[in-house]
Amino acid sequence: MKAAVLQEPGAPENLLIQEIAEPLLQDTEVLVKVKAISINPVDVKTRSGKALYGQLKNDNPVIVGWDISGEVTAVGNAVKQFKPGDAVFGMVNFPGHGKAYAEYVAAPENHLALKPAAISHPKAAASTLAALTAWQVLVHLAGIKAGQKVFIQAAAGGVGHYAVQIAKHFGAYTIGTASAANTDFLQEIGLDEHIDYTKEDFTQLVQEVDLFFDTLGAESVAKGLSVVKNGGQVISILGGCNEANQKKAEEAGIKTMNYLVQSSGTDMEELARLLEAGQVKAHVSQEFPFENIAAAHKQVETGKTRGKVVLILP
Ligand SMILES: NC(=O)c1ccc[n+]([C@@H]2O[C@H](COP(=O)([O-])OP(=O)(O)OC[C@H]3O[C@@H](n4cnc5c(N)ncnc54)[C@H](OP(=O)(O)O)[C@@H]3O)[C@@H](O)[C@H]2O)c1
Repeated sequence: MKAAVLQEPGAPENLLIQEIAEPLLQDTEVLVKVKAISINPVDVKTRSGKALYGQLKNDNPVIVGWDISGEVTAVGNAVKQFKPGDAVFGMVNFPGHGKAYAEYVAAPENHLALKPAAISHPKAAASTLAALTAWQVLVHLAGIKAGQKVFIQAAAGGVGHYAVQIAKHFGAYTIGTASAANTDFLQEIGLDEHIDYTKEDFTQLVQEVDLFFDTLGAESVAKGLSVVKNGGQVISILGGCNEANQKKAEEAGIKTMNYLVQSSGTDMEELARLLEAGQVKAHVSQEFPFENIAAAHKQVETGKTRGKVVLILP
């Protein structure tokens, strides 16, 4: 099969498409013929030697990527949920070696869900790591409730556009940051209040937030603390709740947490339900053929992607 093998950490061109053996199946895994793969900032960071590269580097070959949608072609002896022919999607082995940049991926059955028939493979692949992150933060960590005020940094990005829609699904009031280029898009996905971070200072415009969803890091959290109400929460997916911010938060009666998304078939099933009902929509801004993986990485590296970038396999 073809796989994009990382030769050594570095430039996007270090992802070389090569012929390698198909993965062997464990008893609890299914073999997925991949139709679409989504690319995340963590893929880009790992490719360049950061993020999860340290965990993968001693394996041979190193195959980056976690987000897939495709068709089951074989199942391990202990697999109960899926059979050959099923269309499935999920985030495979995160945080770990997902090996998703390949024609065939061996995936633990409990990392996958059935793909709703009406959702395309590109949109399904897009609704994995980024959507799971938004779901796990809002539902499992924050326990989001109707009427709460949620502030989402980078609301037009991969995680952000799911966070807006999931928060709205639970009846929250959403405030989000993005540049003016994304005003219409944010309106389409239901954001209540858009702040153009290139022109406006949100600390002057917002107050009494229940949840500050940080996607940008420590500087953003330091500012965010001033808009969160006593008893509110700050959850960062970029390590923004450092010691200094935690101390400040404690003094203000604000809970803080850093979070790393985890593979979960159960959460994928919840997302499948929302996608099928049209309550959450994946926005795929660009599709690239698998061979153009370097171009897809360059796009994600800009930090300006609207929604998601997806690779298409034959
Ligand atoms: N811990 C975890 O489990 C976890 C999971 C997923 C992602 N992450 C991390 O979270 C971050 C976001 O991920 P993502 O997939 O959403 O990234 P992304 O899709 O690449 O985000 C792109 C978006 O960021 C916006 N943006 C850039 N600079 C901004 C700023 N200063 N203020 C507000 N918006 C800004 C851009 O909007 P404009 O073009 O309008 O500027 C663009 O729409 C990444 O660093 C990623 O590694 C962590």
